[in-house]
Amino acid sequence: MTPCTKLPAWKKLEDHAAKMKSAALKDMFTKDPERFSNLSFRLPGFLADFSKNRITAETLDLLVELLDQSNFEKLRTAMLAGEKINLTDGRAVLHTALRKPQPPPEAHEALERCYQLSDAVRNGTWKGHTGKEITDIVHIGIGGSNLGARLVTEALSNHHHPRMKCHFVANVEASDLDRVLKSVDPETTLFIIASKSFTTVEVMQNAAIARDWLTAHYKNDKKSVEKHFVAASTNAAAVAEFGIAAENMFPFWDWVGGRWSVWSSIGLCIMIMTGRDNFRDFLAGAHIVDDHFANAPARENVPVLMGLIGIWYRNFMKFPAYAVSPYHTGLARLPAWLQQIDMESNGKCVTREGDTITMETGPLVFGEAGTDSQHSFFQWLHQGSDVVPTDFIAFAKTPYGTEAQQNMLLANCLAQSEALMLGVVNKEAPHKNFPGNRPSTTFMIDQLTPQSLGMLMALYEHKVFVQGAIWNINSYDQYGVELGKVLAQTIGRELDKGETGMHDASTTGLMAYIRQVP
Ligand code: F6P
Repeated sequence: MTPCTKLPAWKKLEDHAAKMKSAALKDMFTKDPERFSNLSFRLPGFLADFSKNRITAETLDLLVELLDQSNFEKLRTAMLAGEKINLTDGRAVLHTALRKPQPPPEAHEALERCYQLSDAVRNGTWKGHTGKEITDIVHIGIGGSNLGARLVTEALSNHHHPRMKCHFVANVEASDLDRVLKSVDPETTLFIIASKSFTTVEVMQNAAIARDWLTAHYKNDKKSVEKHFVAASTNAAAVAEFGIAAENMFPFWDWVGGRWSVWSSIGLCIMIMTGRDNFRDFLAGAHIVDDHFANAPARENVPVLMGLIGIWYRNFMKFPAYAVSPYHTGLARLPAWLQQIDMESNGKCVTREGDTITMETGPLVFGEAGTDSQHSFFQWLHQGSDVVPTDFIAFAKTPYGTEAQQNMLLANCLAQSEALMLGVVNKEAPHKNFPGNRPSTTFMIDQLTPQSLGMLMALYEHKVFVQGAIWNINSYDQYGVELGKVLAQTIGRELDKGETGMHDASTTGLMAYIRQVP
């Protein structure tokens, strides 16, 4: 594969970037009265406005040229056809198949079983060991087996079953599980152990403690596990060994990557909390975007444009990061989910062939729900020394509160992107100077619904795909998380036994300090 930096369009983009460095966004609007309509795109119930980005028609032409010269088209076809594009793991990448109206037979069957469980828990026919209805779901999982499920469950809180609460435990740090176990009743709690591998140490430790807590309540009656533990996993043998019955294991497959698994049985808590119809709408929303991603021409393809503009900023404008600011408290977990989707996928510096990459790859992603973040990192966005493109996400209508509250919220969102772009020159008081010309994209979504949430998440997933394809990265493995896991096992054993192995002086010193704390 020709490295992307050697593609003819790359050089042209470098030259173009040199000219664009000083180009002012406000002038672009003055010059082109049609800029908003030319650079905003509609999907059902959804508007993506790219007009406040530091791009021109020429920028987009060149970026599309780069896309065409890259491996993108081939890789997209290969992904959607189920080829094993995750080369290092030898796996297909087919989460999009789960969102099809007609998913593959095994996925259809698994989803139907999930729906049956969720119906039974919701309508009270699934009872706990002492015959009581379930009131609390405790989802134990981490990373891709937590972030998406948690984001969607929390975002769709107005669709929750009124009898039930859902709790999430991810961290191996003991207070995470402790606080949940203290707040639930073992007789009315259903634990979902969500783990693709069913070997992740944090998850298995928390699951075992939860199981012991439950069986202790039932005077060690192991039968109680049957009515209070289910699993979402690809590892049937490990699930059985843990003591979860085969009929309580909800499978998915190695062709669903962990960080794309919310669309599979990992989304069981969403199905239980919001019901099968809402989960169907969530999948359908993602499918709308999958269809658009597969078929729309590049110049109108929203996730392709998101990916290309990200490349423009990262490689040509040299911006190191981007921020995401959803103006909805329910989406407070979106940045965390996006961090894994983007940074675990493209935080790499070797190509698919194993060669070292010399240019910048995946950016730093961070964010927080607006308006809270306006009172934390927005100062840095407006006046900091780095330019950080920002994604604003807002919903035009809400079922909550009054119109005045909603208008105040939307005004804040719109004001921030306007202020970032326009800036203010204040010669008398330099500390009140806003440089402006800071780019943003706004996703104005009609309402937060299961469908629009599915669409939003699928857009970001495909954006990351586009960038990985151009950088020629394998976006589907995550070996960067392995080394720490291995070392943690050794250090954990040593801490247990009071031993000190062979470590660097800092690690040895820290272990010694831990031991002497009374
Ligand atoms: O953080 C590494 C990782 O492998 C993620 O990719 C994955 O989502 C997470 O751990 C959890 O893995 P599992 O679902 O196998 O417990």
